[in-house]
Amino acid sequence: MRKRVLHGTQPSGKLHLGNYFGAMSQHVAGQDEFESFIFIANYHALNTIHDAETLRQFTLDVALDYLAVGLDPEKAYLYRQSDVPEVTELTWILSTVTGKGLLERAVSYKDKVARGQAASMGLFCYPVLQAADILIVDSDLVPVGKDQVQHIEMTADMAGYFNGVYGADLLKQPAAKLNDAAIVPGIDGEKMSKSYGNAIELFDTPKNAKKRIMSIKTDSTPVEDSKNPHTCNVFALLRLFASPEETAEWATRYRAGGMGYGDVKKRVAELFEELIGPFREKREQLVKDAAYVEDILSEGGRKVRAEAQKVMERVRSACGIVVSGR
Ligand code: ADP
Ligand code: TRP
Repeated sequence: MRKRVLHGTQPSGKLHLGNYFGAMSQHVAGQDEFESFIFIANYHALNTIHDAETLRQFTLDVALDYLAVGLDPEKAYLYRQSDVPEVTELTWILSTVTGKGLLERAVSYKDKVARGQAASMGLFCYPVLQAADILIVDSDLVPVGKDQVQHIEMTADMAGYFNGVYGADLLKQPAAKLNDAAIVPGIDGEKMSKSYGNAIELFDTPKNAKKRIMSIKTDSTPVEDSKNPHTCNVFALLRLFASPEETAEWATRYRAGGMGYGDVKKRVAELFEELIGPFREKREQLVKDAAYVEDILSEGGRKVRAEAQKVMERVRSACGIVVSGR
């Protein structure tokens, strides 16, 4: 049996190259090897988005983005969290066996509150909802960046508490699949992030994308001098797009001297366009075919819900919850 891999994306605005290389491209690559569950975490987003039209639009954007970069709905389940309402039911049940102390130790909650986000119950209980997303389909693996590992460990803990109370093996304990992708730097050299204003968006206009690439921060080594590729933000991006052979050639040119940063930036802009241009075209076509995208999402939701219902039957029956008509 293929392993079940699950990933959730919050619908929170425009994607950037960090999201693509650090997460989405790997999810797309995994669709042949794993049974892949890719969902849009719209209930999670209610912690930050309080405008209905914005949430609807951002939710659709995640689906468009994934389909544009190559997610194949014949291979992977693409769905909205809200199309599997059992997730919220399981969230409640998990919260009845989970100690408040576990959630108080969540680093991401503390970080978000420290950065000014409202300390709502939704934000505090966010890891329980995330655990339900994962446990509701018996996921084996959850690909995450380092910042999310704690949430996956908490998920395994919550499954363990539930199994401890109601019976071994009722919920499958998942493992984090740590992402070994490099951190993609933004145009200022810090980690690319939508909140730092340093991102190169995936689906910006070609003109703006080029402008952003040409404005990547570099040091002031004169053109004729030898340069170190491994401390250069432009090179860090180049290597994501270019073949290993081309990357090696540029490294030689850096070291030899006589190369200006403008040259390598131009090449990054070209390579960006070669990769992203076809994605952009695909996305533009999908935008015109809203009914097709909606069909994919509702069909994905229907299939995943059937899986979730099996787990929920198991859970309800173990804890004595009766739902009429079943
Ligand atoms: P942001 O920092 O822009 O808010 P998110 O936290 O929403 O991005 O990240 C979504 C996914 O993209 C995560 O899996 C994260 O690991 C990945 N990701 C985000 N930024 C980068 C980056 N600069 N380099 C590599 N991966 C990234
Ligand atoms: N917490 C994740 C993030 O902020 C999104 C998410 C929600 C998720 N549920 C999940 C990720 C389940 C993996 C598995 O990026």
